[in-house]
Amino acid sequence: MIADHFFNPRNVGDADEPRFVGRSASLTCGAHVRFSIQVDEAHAISQARFRAVGCSDLVAGASLLTEQVIGLTTAQATTIGHDPEGMDPRCARLAREALLDAIVDFSNAARDDWAGDEALICTCFFVSERTIEREIQTHGFTTVAEVTKACNAGGGCGSCHQLIQEILATNDLPG
Ligand code: FES
Repeated sequence: MIADHFFNPRNVGDADEPRFVGRSASLTCGAHVRFSIQVDEAHAISQARFRAVGCSDLVAGASLLTEQVIGLTTAQATTIGHDPEGMDPRCARLAREALLDAIVDFSNAARDDWAGDEALICTCFFVSERTIEREIQTHGFTTVAEVTKACNAGGGCGSCHQLIQEILATNDLPG
């Protein structure tokens, strides 16, 4: 399977515009990979493409990953964590890091573009600032992990962690 994806890599190139781009690189071996995704209105990945400079495992890993994530929501795509059998785990991880970086790029843009009544904090799980505040105030949460467990916010790409942290700090009032 690895050889097949290396000799016949799928989805090479750039996703169509509007696209969101992520990159990762290894300081150890000099390999680098660029992932670009297109995301539909339901936050599902409709296109995933890559460019890579590196070994056969990196090319195969990125190629395989593009096939795995198409059709998944961005939140689901962040949970892909297993290393394909026989593949160097460092190469598989490098490909996943580039994908995650592309999802963060999407999440930041989606948050900025959001036009709903309530501020959207976690774009992976569509969780608003008000919902997070309510969870914090109701349960006295003090950590991002507690918020994530209660309402999923923060459980995907992680780009909202800093914002959740700020909401926690704002609500950390002396009782
Ligand atoms: S925006 Fe991705 S985990 Fe919250």
